[in-house]
Amino acid sequence: MKHFINLRDIPIRELKKIINDAKKRKKLRRNLNTLDSDPDQPLKGKLLIQMFEKSSLRTRLSFYIAIKQLSGGALTLRTDELHLSKGGESLTDTAKIISTFGNAFMLRTDSEEKLSTLKKNMTIPLINGLSPNSHPTQVLSDVFTIEEIKKKPISKLQICWIGDSNNVLNSLIEASVKFSFKLNIGCPKKYQPNKSLLKWANKNKGKIKIFSNSKLAAKNSDVIFTDKVISMNDKVNKAKKIKDFKNFKITSYIMKFAKKDAIFLHCLPRGTEVTNDVFLGRQSKVFQQAQNRIYVQKSILLYCFGKLRN
Ligand code: CP
Ligand code: NVA
Repeated sequence: MKHFINLRDIPIRELKKIINDAKKRKKLRRNLNTLDSDPDQPLKGKLLIQMFEKSSLRTRLSFYIAIKQLSGGALTLRTDELHLSKGGESLTDTAKIISTFGNAFMLRTDSEEKLSTLKKNMTIPLINGLSPNSHPTQVLSDVFTIEEIKKKPISKLQICWIGDSNNVLNSLIEASVKFSFKLNIGCPKKYQPNKSLLKWANKNKGKIKIFSNSKLAAKNSDVIFTDKVISMNDKVNKAKKIKDFKNFKITSYIMKFAKKDAIFLHCLPRGTEVTNDVFLGRQSKVFQQAQNRIYVQKSILLYCFGKLRN
């Protein structure tokens, strides 16, 4: 039994195994319907319990479909219907009960502390479906999408992030160290990534460069990523932050600094950080990126259950 909480805690050989398994399983499903099981039914009879303390469309749907395709089932708990929120039931007791009834627990949370309390008290795998500091399932799936489209290991590519230093970027930084790819980050000076994470990346041979000019960040890149300037529950002066990012919008002009065959990715949902023509344009792969979440969630689940094939 393994948890999936942060990419930095997972050995690279396991992350690569997840990606390879997802590739194989995706190929095998070409003629199957959404809810048909994979032929080997690896998680038959298993129950994934999921809970969202923040909104979700893609993570919710992809985990539901993922466990179904592995022959298990999913139950989504509503936070406002548990004793945990209003009735005063403790998180530790809740964790023990979820471990008794379910076989894996996926949580989207607003608190890192909750994740660590749960980790200590759960006897089933715990999956981080987005927290204030990371979004590991998203980024691992994005590595899968990039390799699928570029047909090369990500270590041979230059990835560029232009935008806020948020949870998705943190996981991308961790991925860049684990998978050993070049990562250019373009952001305003006062919104640079977390110092201790950068220190960890430098100590672990990270190939990260930070620019306060988005054109320089984009130059010669194979992939341009961005995300909303204002994340969920971001407690900032929103109008001011959006103004601070006015030179960090992805436009067709910025895309021209990247390689000719560069692709555009965005975890979604989007705000005003990308123009409509880029978002819906020929270089944008955002819908393929979203759909791939299903395949990678499946292999993440199999990793957690110790059922990944070589
Ligand atoms: N990208 C992503 O995690 O989407 P949702 O917030 O809709 O789950
Ligand atoms: N950074 C965004 C990601 C949403 C999937 C947020 O946390 O709101």
